[in-house]
Amino acid sequence: MPAELSPVDKAKFVAAKRAVEFVENGMRVGLGTGSTAAWMVRILGQRVREERLRIKGVATSARTAQLAREERIEVVSLDEARWLDLTIDGTDEFDGELNLIKGGGAALLHEKIVATASDRMIVIADAAKEVAHLGAFPLPVEVIPFGWQTTKALIEEMLVSLDVLGREVTLRMNGSAPLVTEQGNRILDLHLGRIGNPRQMALVLNQVPGVVENGLFIDICDRVIVGHGDGRVTTRDIYTGEVEHDRYDFAEPENLFADLTD
Ligand code: 5RP
Repeated sequence: MPAELSPVDKAKFVAAKRAVEFVENGMRVGLGTGSTAAWMVRILGQRVREERLRIKGVATSARTAQLAREERIEVVSLDEARWLDLTIDGTDEFDGELNLIKGGGAALLHEKIVATASDRMIVIADAAKEVAHLGAFPLPVEVIPFGWQTTKALIEEMLVSLDVLGREVTLRMNGSAPLVTEQGNRILDLHLGRIGNPRQMALVLNQVPGVVENGLFIDICDRVIVGHGDGRVTTRDIYTGEVEHDRYDFAEPENLFADLTD
């Protein structure tokens, strides 16, 4: 393990650590995808082993499922769990209303289904993910492979009447081939710059034939936990409006990092 984590990794780590404190014995927990969510899975695994916490995890991607099993977290399908107590996931952007852009890791479809099937969704992030307006991060849209170029053209046409700064749409690649999602679909990235009305955008996009789902998470996230490189953590609750401040001491968790870092 590296002797020292980067400030961004520390920020992700402390956000994940705070979020895992919300997990209780017996819970069914949605496990997000991405580097921040990976910290969360590792820290949760440590609690499962040390505290003999009995939880069931529903993974949002094959890579998260694999990591969770390595951490000895019981992984079940969403159909087995049916409904979840809590989902913890990362994000690519969040705004002041805790609306999100997700899908940078191409797992947005499973992530949205799992988060929507949860009583609560906690998002964990470093401070760079907070934005005044969503849209600087390209908005991922999952489309079926059949006629994807027509779907792309329909989206481009639709964007003309919406309040956005940019309208370029690109097919996400994985090396020299189109990226294929776990459902066998493609991802179109919408380079919008700024989305004037995210709620409208989310609704309209899903009306386009060929679109499976978009990466806008509107009214799904309840709480966002932002970590900072110096160990500070801010927790914001959308319903109560409460903001809590915590701090983690890095001197003590060095051993924890030793266990948790790749
Ligand atoms: C994957 C996601 C991730 O949560 C998002 O991309 C953030 O990733 P990271 O924590 O690595 O910054 O939506 O589809």
